[in-house]
Amino acid sequence: MVAEGYVSKPDAVSGGGARRAEYTRGGVALDKLNIDDIMPNSVLAQDVFGQIDNTSLPLLRKGSIISAEYLYKLKERNINYLYVKRKISGILLSEPGTNPHARFSIPYEKSKSSVSPIVRKDAVKSLRALHIVSQGSDAQATANAVNHLCDVLTKIVDGLHTSKTVNIHQLQSVDEYIYHHTLSVVVISLAIGQGLGLGKTTLFNIAQCALMHDVGKYLTPPEVLNKKELLNESELQTVKRHAVTGFEYMKKSDMLTETHRQAIVLHHEKIDGTGYPLGMKGEKIPLWSRIIAVADVYDAMTSRRPYRDALSPSEAYEYIQGLAYYSFDFDIVRAFINKMEFYPVGCIIELSSGLGFAIVLEALNKLRPRVKRLDVDSEIDLCDIRYLNVTIKRIVPYEEALGRK
Ligand SMILES: [Fe+2]
Repeated sequence: MVAEGYVSKPDAVSGGGARRAEYTRGGVALDKLNIDDIMPNSVLAQDVFGQIDNTSLPLLRKGSIISAEYLYKLKERNINYLYVKRKISGILLSEPGTNPHARFSIPYEKSKSSVSPIVRKDAVKSLRALHIVSQGSDAQATANAVNHLCDVLTKIVDGLHTSKTVNIHQLQSVDEYIYHHTLSVVVISLAIGQGLGLGKTTLFNIAQCALMHDVGKYLTPPEVLNKKELLNESELQTVKRHAVTGFEYMKKSDMLTETHRQAIVLHHEKIDGTGYPLGMKGEKIPLWSRIIAVADVYDAMTSRRPYRDALSPSEAYEYIQGLAYYSFDFDIVRAFINKMEFYPVGCIIELSSGLGFAIVLEALNKLRPRVKRLDVDSEIDLCDIRYLNVTIKRIVPYEEALGRK
C-alpha cells in the first residue's frame, strides 16, 4: 500500500530494493536509507516495527531522534532500512517539538562520517574487548579479540575503498579516547595509503597495524596517560615504552606477522632520527610506520585531552606541513593533505572575531569553508576578502553546540 508517497509499514523496515529511495509529503522529502548510511540525530519519518510481529507496538516512533545507540540496536534486529526526514534543500529537518535540543538544522547529505555509526560502534566495542583481555594472560582470548577486530577492519577498508576523501568527524570523542583515537588513526592511515596509490591488500595490512599501534597503552598506567600536569622524566619514559610493550604483546596473536609488529613498534620514529624507541632515520623506518605517524599526530593534536584543549585542524595541518622532511615523510604529508577533509560538511566550528558557532556548508577550500552562522541567519565564505581576518578556533562537539554540555 502506498499513500502520499509513503511505502507501506512492513516495507518501511524490511529492506530490499534500492539503497536509497525518496518520497515527498508536505514539502518535506523522506529518504528511505540503508541503516549504515544514516547519520545519528536524524529524525525518523515512520514508525519502525519488528520484523516478526508487525501488529505489536513500534520499536521506535515516528519523530524520534535516531541516536547511534538506536541505530546499533535496530541493526541487531536485522532492520536494514529506515525512513528519515529532510528538507528538499538537503538540510535535515528537526521535527518541531520532538527534539528539545534542536537549536539548528544539521546538513545531512554530504556530512556522513567515513565510518558508519554501526561500524564505529562495533569497532569501539571490539577495541574495548581487546583492552580487557590485554589485562590478563590468556593468549587465546587475545587472538580471538584480534580476529574479531580484523573482521571489523574489513568493513572499514571496504567502506573507504571508493571514497575520494575522508573525514574523521564524529570519530573523535573525549569519552573512551583511546578507542576513538585508534579508529581515527585507522581511517586517516587508509586515506594516506589510498593517496599513495597502495593496493587493497597493503591497505588492509596498514589498517591492521594502525588498529594495534597503541595497544601498548592498554598496559600503561592510566593515571600516567591521563595526568593533567606535565610528566616527569620517569613518567615520560613509561609512556614511551608503550611502543615496545605493544610489540611484545602482539606476539600473542599469530594474525600479525613480524612485519606488522615492526610497523607497530616504530610508529613514533621520525625521519630525522629524533623519534623513539630506536632513533631510526628516513626510509629505514617502514612505510607503514611513517604513515601511521602522521595519522597519529594529527588525531592526537585535534583531540581534547585531560591536560589540554584540542587544537583546530588548521593548526594541526600547519604543524604537520611545517615538519614535512624533518619529522614526517614529505610524500606522506602530501597524500594526507590531499585526502583529508579538515572541515567536513556538517561539522560545527567556532569562529574568531565574536562570530560564534557556525556550521560548515561547503569546503571547496579545505581550510576556509563556506559556513552558516548559528546565532544569526547569515552565510559566510571564509575565502571572501571581507572575512580573511576571521579564523577557525576549533571544531565544536555536537553535544556542546546543542547545549547539552
Ligand atoms: Fe603511540
